[in-house]
Amino acid sequence: MSPLRLLHVPSPDWTWRQVRLALAQAAPSDAIPLFEAAARDRLRMDVVAFGSCRSALVAALRVLAPPGRVLAPAYTCVAVPNAVRTAGLEITWLDVAGANIDLDAVERTAQPGDLLLAQHTYGLPLDSRRLRQLADRGVTVLEDRAHRFDGDDVAGLASVYSFEHSKVVSAGIGGLVASADPALIESARRFRADLEPPAQAVSRRALRTSAVQISLAAAEPMLPSFASLARRVARRVPYLAAPSQDPSELSGGLVDVRSMDPVAAALGLLSLERLEANLRHRWDMCHYYQSELGELVPPWASVDRPLVRQPVLVADAEATTRRLRRHGVDLGVRWFEAPIHPRGSASSYTPGSAPNAEALATRVLSLPTHVRITPEMAARVVRAIRDAAA
Ligand SMILES: Cc1ncc(COP(=O)(O)O)c(C=O)c1O
Repeated sequence: MSPLRLLHVPSPDWTWRQVRLALAQAAPSDAIPLFEAAARDRLRMDVVAFGSCRSALVAALRVLAPPGRVLAPAYTCVAVPNAVRTAGLEITWLDVAGANIDLDAVERTAQPGDLLLAQHTYGLPLDSRRLRQLADRGVTVLEDRAHRFDGDDVAGLASVYSFEHSKVVSAGIGGLVASADPALIESARRFRADLEPPAQAVSRRALRTSAVQISLAAAEPMLPSFASLARRVARRVPYLAAPSQDPSELSGGLVDVRSMDPVAAALGLLSLERLEANLRHRWDMCHYYQSELGELVPPWASVDRPLVRQPVLVADAEATTRRLRRHGVDLGVRWFEAPIHPRGSASSYTPGSAPNAEALATRVLSLPTHVRITPEMAARVVRAIRDAAA
């Protein structure tokens, strides 16, 4: 039997130079302005870098300070509601249509003064024309672009981006507020001025996790059994495995709001240099999955864009995941396995109130599109899914 391959590789777009930099933990003093300048060029909006996307969300919400409610999709990561509460606000949850918030429901519900958290789940674009119409009605649109990295069709007053290790572009950890509004950017900068970068222990652990996992993943073609076992063991060693959410965040704790780590900025800058190849690869992978697994790809997930992960629907995602593992394919943590991911996280969401999101969470698999997925691996994933879903 072939060894179990872990298809999730943290910070898959890093080179050996970045692995060395992550381990050396040394960055030039101008790393953050250089990173911001590169991101500004790519996004065609001004940006302010933060320690994470959840910190960027808190900053954007504090700056936008909506007088009304915060409308958000009940299909998200727990970091999002935690950030909203950290900003002193509460979420009004709405169900999804596909994997994104149901814009019909938003149009029925939204009042002037409300803020819409417009999350582009998996990188699937929300309809920017409808977002603009909501903005025209006095709804503040804040785009959560954590799952995509581009400045196309921006309709929101501000957008947030993530550079966490599983996102389109990786700095290990980090996030951005982006906006074309100079006053908003100035306020976000002022908000950041009072912040500290992440505690060294936290950022070192995050960067070490990516460096170790990438190094072992590179050995997989030569030593598949050993490298795969070593990666799984490393994931269990706290010194080598940073969690995506710490226990306090899982129990609904507030976000530790931070400015960006300069080493992460230096790493993100190097990743941005290879953005085109990264997006091209993701796009090719999406085309491949969509053409090979067409019957499992719902119309809303069949888009001509580079997705951070390609969603496919099966009858029972948990059972298929177990069967995939028996076929030697480990897709890693399922996005999203519950309306508020990960399952069991504490939040104000009332179970049963978003039936579409709950059904989606039981049926969705999200396939990796990152640059370390070779055509052979993608073909293996497709074969395993066909067998497992049969
Ligand atoms: C949609 C969405 N927004 C925001 C975040 C928070 O990103 P970060 O890990 O950079 O804080 C996540 C978490 O992964 C997410 O999935």
